[in-house]
Amino acid sequence: MKKIKLHDKEFRLLIEASAIDLAVTGLAQRLNHDLQDEQPLFLSVLNGSFMFTSDLLKKITIPGTEISFIKIASYAGTCSTGTVRELIGFHKNIEGRTIVILEDMIDSGKSMAYLLDLLKARNPKKIYVATMFYKPKALVCKIPVDYYALSLENDFVVGHGLDYDDLGRNLPDLYILDNRENKA
Ligand code: IMP
Ligand code: MG
Repeated sequence: MKKIKLHDKEFRLLIEASAIDLAVTGLAQRLNHDLQDEQPLFLSVLNGSFMFTSDLLKKITIPGTEISFIKIASYAGTCSTGTVRELIGFHKNIEGRTIVILEDMIDSGKSMAYLLDLLKARNPKKIYVATMFYKPKALVCKIPVDYYALSLENDFVVGHGLDYDDLGRNLPDLYILDNRENKA
């Protein structure tokens, strides 16, 4: 069994890169079919989505496809606002555009709920959510998950863009936190 160590934690292989590629190819085919007349603007959420974006967009054949990258800053707000989030350096006019948000992972859905609110305020025609990984049992916010490549159980994973304290993003395969090793 393939294992890796990142910081203090052990992880074991969960999904090989070839299986992720296959699922992402299937997702690209669905998008190519559904959005062929839409001239979509893909918005890749950094940092985690860089590998998914590269894998997916090589397989998108829709005429007029555009790609932009967005980053969200989160910081503690006041008591009444809770966590405050804002888009960093994203000034593109998206009014009337068909947007496809590309996320690495939808877990609780809170990040996506915030992002949808921020983008809706800019009056796009339609926003689709596409994520590489999705943990349906962890979802607490009511958000549309229009497209996903693979669904996962409610476990912590790293690799293929996802990190554990900044490590592991470059790993092609997906690894799961190995609870047996990390208990003790
Ligand atoms: P959410 O707001 O709870 O849906 O969390 C979404 C973000 O948390 C994702 O975009 C990831 O960056 C991060 N995240 C959620 N689950 C994991 C995981 O299992 N491993 C690494 N990062 C995760
Ligand atoms: Mg993320």
